[in-house]
Amino acid sequence: MSIKVTDGLFRLETAETSYVFRVNEMGHLEQIHYGRKLPEGDIESLRHKHELTHGSAVLYDEEKDSSYCLEEIPLEWSGVGKGDFRVTPIEVKLPDNSFTCDFVFENYSLQSGAPAMHTLPSAAGNGAETLVVTLKDKAFSVYADLYYSVYEAENVITRRCVLRSDEEETVLIKKIMSYSIDLPDRNYTVITLSGGWISEANTIERRLETGMLVNESTSFSQHRNNPAVALVANGATEETGDVYGFNLIYGGNHQTSVELSPVGLVRVTGGLNPYCFLWELHKGESFETPEAVLTYSMNGKNGMSQNFHAFVQNQVVRGEWQKKERPILINNWEANFFQFRQNSLLRLAKRGKRLGCELFVLDDGWFGDRNTDTAGLGDYAVNRKKLPDGLEGLSQRINRCGMKFGLWFEPENVNDNSNLYRAHPEWAIQRPNRKASLGRHQKMLNLTMPEVRDYIVENVTQILDHCSISYVKWDMNRKVSDFEDGTFLHRYMIGYYDVLSRIFRERPWILLEGCASGGGRFDLGHLCFAQQIWASDDTDPVERLKIQGGLSLFYPISTMGAHLSMAPHQQTLRDTPLFTRFAVAAFGAFGLELDPSDLKPVERKTVASLLEQYRKIRKTCQFGRFSRIETGNRNIVQWQAQDEEKTVILRVKTMVPAAQRNDYLTVTGLKPDALYHLKEIGNPLFLHRFGGLMKHILPIKLKPNGFILRTVDKYMKMDDFAESYTASGAQLMAGIRLHRSFIGTGFSDKMHMQGDYSAILIEIAEEK
Ligand code: DGJ
Repeated sequence: MSIKVTDGLFRLETAETSYVFRVNEMGHLEQIHYGRKLPEGDIESLRHKHELTHGSAVLYDEEKDSSYCLEEIPLEWSGVGKGDFRVTPIEVKLPDNSFTCDFVFENYSLQSGAPAMHTLPSAAGNGAETLVVTLKDKAFSVYADLYYSVYEAENVITRRCVLRSDEEETVLIKKIMSYSIDLPDRNYTVITLSGGWISEANTIERRLETGMLVNESTSFSQHRNNPAVALVANGATEETGDVYGFNLIYGGNHQTSVELSPVGLVRVTGGLNPYCFLWELHKGESFETPEAVLTYSMNGKNGMSQNFHAFVQNQVVRGEWQKKERPILINNWEANFFQFRQNSLLRLAKRGKRLGCELFVLDDGWFGDRNTDTAGLGDYAVNRKKLPDGLEGLSQRINRCGMKFGLWFEPENVNDNSNLYRAHPEWAIQRPNRKASLGRHQKMLNLTMPEVRDYIVENVTQILDHCSISYVKWDMNRKVSDFEDGTFLHRYMIGYYDVLSRIFRERPWILLEGCASGGGRFDLGHLCFAQQIWASDDTDPVERLKIQGGLSLFYPISTMGAHLSMAPHQQTLRDTPLFTRFAVAAFGAFGLELDPSDLKPVERKTVASLLEQYRKIRKTCQFGRFSRIETGNRNIVQWQAQDEEKTVILRVKTMVPAAQRNDYLTVTGLKPDALYHLKEIGNPLFLHRFGGLMKHILPIKLKPNGFILRTVDKYMKMDDFAESYTASGAQLMAGIRLHRSFIGTGFSDKMHMQGDYSAILIEIAEEK
């Protein structure tokens, strides 16, 4: 049993954490401990003590206890108007026209598994146990059911609140969060993933001072602020120290507030953003909040990430692809944009196949008048000028090339210049009295309307069921505008999940990749349907280190779409080595985002050989236990993935100084006594990287940029030095002194001759 209840004391136990609270003398839920695992027994030392209150305190009930002040008590839930002035999880206008509310314990129940929600997606509940604590407002028949589902193996506790009313008069919900928890202050740094289009999920660290930090979004989960938040206790590192993580299974407007109160309590409350929100709750109705995911680790940020990764893989992602290695895909977007024909697509597919791709993805532009992004969205009739044999014909031909076929959709939006909009302008989200504001020349469809949802479901499933499609990319390229109110946005999300559920729950064989102008909708709500999400339209690996590295705090590698593209990159104009583009994307759901015919012949050969090697490490990279390794140098990023078969290490140098220092490689998690073989995956050296230096190395004088060397560079490469050792786990974990990197004094075939943005990829396997 992972939930134990004795005399009003609730103990929620996971493999490595304990979560304890009690019903106190006033009937409030008092938080006692959330953190490292406790042995059974007395919790007196952990209980909040209050002998006297601070000056200016509002006493809850002076007659009963002259030192009981809600503001100073660690709570599991709170209200308004009774002396707790911290950020509140609930604001409801009750029948007395007041927001004053006071929720006290009514009863509790236990059940195995995790009950599914009626309106929103939630975690699967495999192996979980659920506690429901019902609180009741002291003056009115309004109830808050607090759900706690305990996932023992994953060290996760999910929380949500369902508000119910038995009052004749309507109750108005202005704000209702999924959870609230008060923790002791540990000098926290708050981590959020923030950014924008092509610069998603940058790790932002802010010191928590007295006052409040708010992480929120007003246009769905979006690029700006991901719903996930971490609290890192003072001194915690990647490997050690106390770290808490919070996330939401929801892709709508979210808000997480972290408030350090003057008495040294940290309140974290998260859920639906109250922005423009006003929901009427009538007698007999209930309102369910999104499910929140909480975890704690005493093993640093990596410990927190590993808990989240296991939870997402076991309880959030579903379908036949849940734990399957992702196919290597080739996507035609950056290769073609809107300009393609059936034959050019087939040529692209064949070239991809020759390099080792397993899935061909046709992106935007296959339907209606979609030759630019100003027209066609909303229509599903295939463009026969581009694809004379239709999607059926194209998908069959792709299959005959030995590849699976995948297709792009953007079903939530409509161009004014489309047959759909001409027929149904009333289906678009816009106000009757205002000119609608467009985003990427399009309007959003109103998914709160059943007929709109039916239109999307019918059209998408018609295509999925008549063509040979094994993958779908579901795009969404604008933020919301011209909406009615905040409840509309929530109802939109409910409609959106209904559409996804009707299409994909019945087709579990389809690999679904979410996308929203890149990583604009990277959240757990989406991952309940999509097994992976396109992490960013930025395919520059140096930027991807920040994006994928940031996402890795909360999301497993298998969920991050990551592609090798052409350099200089379309997003940064940075020129990065081919191997680095490959190696960073290898820590993701890998694909190619280029036309292989734009590569030099020697690069094509290299990519083919890298993909062959990738197939051997793909499972480990995507599903292995992932860690970010601290290198002590912000210009060197190191990641490690490990499973029973292998350890794979990626080490990237973003900027190198002149006269580079000696490199020292950290390896973790091996068995000290076992014997391992470590080898570096072959790293190509292309001649053009050496510019004018070529003339110093070659036995004959040749112009560095002259015809001969340019021609040689097209067809030939050298191999960089590759590390290789056979040693015990103990020795490897003691740290490896790598061979030197280029130090500006010449060429050596015993050195790593790489400069800026260079990567090495290392594979370690036990010698059997
Ligand atoms: C935005 C996506 O992020 C891209 O990958 C591509 O699918 C385009 N939309 C297509 O319009």
